[in-house]
Amino acid sequence: MAKRAYPFTPTDQLTEEQAAAELARLAKLIAEHDKRYYQQDAPTISDAEYDALRQRNNDIEARFPELIRKDSPSQRVGAAPTGRFKKVRHAVPMLSLDNAFSDQDVADFVDRVVRFLKLNEPPVFTAEPKIDGLSLSLRYEAGKLVTGATRGDGAEGEDVTANVKTLHDIPHALKGRNVPDVVEIRGEVYMTHDDFIALNKRQAEADEPVYANPRNSAAGSLRQKDPAITASRKLKFFAYAWGEMSAMPADTQAGMVEWIEARGFSINPLFKLCHSVDAMLAFYRDIEQRRAALGYDIDGVVYKLNRLDWQQRLGFVSRSPRWAIAHKFPAEKATTVVNDIDIQVGRTGALTPVAKLEPVTVGGVVVQNATLHNEDYIKGIGNDGNPIRGGTDIRIGDTVIIQRAGDVIPQVVDVVLEKRPKSARPYEFPKTCPVCGSHAVREEGEAVRRCTGGLICPAQQVERLRHFVSRDAFDIEGLGEKQVQAFYNDGLVMEPADIFTLAERDKRATKKLADREGLGETSVRNLFAAIEERRKIPLNKLIYALGIRHIGETNARLIARHYGDVDAFLEGMTAAGAGPDSEAYRELTNIGGIGEVVADAIVEFFKEKKNREALDRLLEQIEVEPMEKVKSDSPVAGKTVVFTGSLEKMTRNEAKAQAERLGAKVAGSVSKKTDYVVAGPGAGSKLAEAQKHGVTVLSEDEWLAMVGG
Ligand code: IVH
Repeated sequence: MAKRAYPFTPTDQLTEEQAAAELARLAKLIAEHDKRYYQQDAPTISDAEYDALRQRNNDIEARFPELIRKDSPSQRVGAAPTGRFKKVRHAVPMLSLDNAFSDQDVADFVDRVVRFLKLNEPPVFTAEPKIDGLSLSLRYEAGKLVTGATRGDGAEGEDVTANVKTLHDIPHALKGRNVPDVVEIRGEVYMTHDDFIALNKRQAEADEPVYANPRNSAAGSLRQKDPAITASRKLKFFAYAWGEMSAMPADTQAGMVEWIEARGFSINPLFKLCHSVDAMLAFYRDIEQRRAALGYDIDGVVYKLNRLDWQQRLGFVSRSPRWAIAHKFPAEKATTVVNDIDIQVGRTGALTPVAKLEPVTVGGVVVQNATLHNEDYIKGIGNDGNPIRGGTDIRIGDTVIIQRAGDVIPQVVDVVLEKRPKSARPYEFPKTCPVCGSHAVREEGEAVRRCTGGLICPAQQVERLRHFVSRDAFDIEGLGEKQVQAFYNDGLVMEPADIFTLAERDKRATKKLADREGLGETSVRNLFAAIEERRKIPLNKLIYALGIRHIGETNARLIARHYGDVDAFLEGMTAAGAGPDSEAYRELTNIGGIGEVVADAIVEFFKEKKNREALDRLLEQIEVEPMEKVKSDSPVAGKTVVFTGSLEKMTRNEAKAQAERLGAKVAGSVSKKTDYVVAGPGAGSKLAEAQKHGVTVLSEDEWLAMVGG
């Protein structure tokens, strides 16, 4: 087994008790990573790190077989399907492969096969690249494609038939005569590097999320609800295996692959037969050399015993066949120097540190940047608060080891401390935004530091403007996402106030809005009218429109109801900036439903002078309608109320508005936290729930008597 460094106790030093705890931890951790990989197409660790976790699990289980858990990752493959598509039960389970990481692992594998079959010499193996895509099973009945299914958890996958039919590499009918009644062809769906780059470019232009790597984009593209989208993604398919077969057309692996090719499938052109361990290892090295030039991602090679009768005799152990093994490539690493650390500001204001590297080639790609994730990562602290890299921090001038593993963004995985220059100082993470200069804050329990200059920070402005004009905020018709971006690009609308001066400025402009592409006299007139209509806005909508972290519609309403009008609100926010001990801060956190996290977010926003100035410019343009203030001395202030059944003296909406005005929170369902259930005739399950939880039940009249109206 290849030697790998674990930041944990070596498996052979674990006591039984520690082993049991470690297996429980690994089962949970691997299940989480499986979910991210298989269901969300968004892995957070590299394949090499994932393999190391599984390997550790296997090693511990090999030492303590009595501790193997029912939910152990060794007992299942992948994660359950996501539920978005119809489920398909595989006639023959779709299994996985055991991994080899070193030459010795491969030799051991061949030895095991030789011993099991009692042979005198190594048998013939097929060798082929291990494609880094997602596996797919295609069922043909009477020669016609009837089902295409993903692997899912190995037993049950997702029905993606309509989508797979759009792939050019997948025949709708098998070529040739007399094909067996039932034929299941299995293989890998993948995306070429060129198609991946082109897709991400299109995604970025359309402001859609970009994919992390070709594998994720292949998975995301195949699991689209609309087959037309899959069709536009140019997915490819290599066939390399089979599932249920009503008759076997060949008796070797190579014979089967040849037969599959003759039925109209693409098979990998590098497929080869190997007659010795040396030949297998030579194949591995050859493919490793060609890897960068293949044009698609592979993460190793796969060896399979050629004779099918011998495959059958060897059978399976838990999730993988004994007759095949994946010889994985090591994660690609290189050593280089950190020339600088740059801070990038994302659209939501997150500050992400990036190492600017002395350019270095990793696996055929020149790398100049590597992500440093966040402030703690630079300091040598992991997401769970525990040390990483043995607690070593990363400094400008350090020699570091970088890794490119499947993911497109390389990472700094270690520091070569012996090479640290004397002059290197610990990196000071900036406390202000490098783009706009606003102060940047890190909430308790969060790894990310964020810029607070939402309204004026160029890195975030477009996002904030979009939010500002969105439906639940200012709701300006005719000012959609594209228009906001276009106006921003041309310097016409840089901050909310600019929206309201647009018409005035247009009068004086030489190039009128109506002359722009996609706009005309009528749409410009309509747009200006829509803007005028929103010059008057209720306080809660204004607060929500500012796009402050944690201030959604509900919190905006709670705050607006408390302060009543915009002047009281601004005064309250300014005074609360004096800190948690101030009366104003306490007033804010005393509003039912507003905790410290929310209070801090809004206070930080108002502490930033540039935000205040941008808001003042906006307030010069608009009129903010006051809201009826909550009566904080009302008997229901801070209480949670549920209305159920029909009400006779007021509508449900009136009841809700009244309760909220009085400082109560109106909930949709009953729980332990509910204070009152107001039940009218016809009340059903909510009444029963209230009785179950011992919640006070009031009639409509009793409620009205209590609130005094
Ligand atoms: S054979 C019974 N051949 O790797 C095993 N798998 O880690 C059948 N894969 O689930 C799999 N290229 O998704 C095989 N040439 C290849 C492969 C390949 C990629 C994938 C496949 C499998 C996974 C196992």
